[in-house]
Amino acid sequence: MTRRDSILREIGLAPLWRRRDRPGQTAEAPAGAESLAQASPAAAPEGDARGRRIAAMGWDELRATVAACRDCRLCEKRKQAVLGVGDVDADWLFVGEGPGAEEDEKGEPFVGQAGKLLDAMLAAIDLRRGNRVYIGNAVKCRPPNNRTPEAEETAACFPYLLRQIELIRPKLIVALGKPAAETLLNMEVKVGAARGRLFDYRGIPLVVTYHPAYLLRNLTDKARAWEDLCFARRAMKGLEEAG
Ligand code: URA
Repeated sequence: MTRRDSILREIGLAPLWRRRDRPGQTAEAPAGAESLAQASPAAAPEGDARGRRIAAMGWDELRATVAACRDCRLCEKRKQAVLGVGDVDADWLFVGEGPGAEEDEKGEPFVGQAGKLLDAMLAAIDLRRGNRVYIGNAVKCRPPNNRTPEAEETAACFPYLLRQIELIRPKLIVALGKPAAETLLNMEVKVGAARGRLFDYRGIPLVVTYHPAYLLRNLTDKARAWEDLCFARRAMKGLEEAG
């Protein structure tokens, strides 16, 4: 067990649930694991030539490549790809699902109603976009009619998210909703069951909470989202203490 794991355990935040996508990288299954069925393991995205090319990109090349990307059919209806926004040295990374109409128009994630709620959620824990915070999405192009992105679309876009995470090296990732959590953890996720647990995304702790757009329709879950943010803040404190 690493020093960080033992500090997190001390403050009641362990165990970390580990992403399973590589041979030899297995998850311990703590009590309750049955609620998180494993999806079919995807090949590690850096394993093919495209993945390796993206994995070597800096921000400028990544931005230009995403802007010109035609690697899945979401490119057909988008106005523009939306890479992400914020502090490239962020401690906090928030990952949503995909751009909506306003994001597609403006080229920035979470600028519509859901974005206003996300900003309020950030403010509730003394954060704001751009200041120690980066906001991105599982897919960079708007799914038509705001439908949920399909598995092949999130898979095609995953190398970009992976590269963003490697460039940012956040201390903590917050997955907003099921598509983001499933993309990052490569397993089936029920948000209700995953809340309040600390997952491990390739060495970076990850928490799951509701998507702000879901919260706009399900006001009673706002209190749960607040608990999740407090949990995330506690995790961040623990990580900062662990150094
Ligand atoms: N919903 C998302 O998941 N992402 C956005 O950028 C906007 C709305």
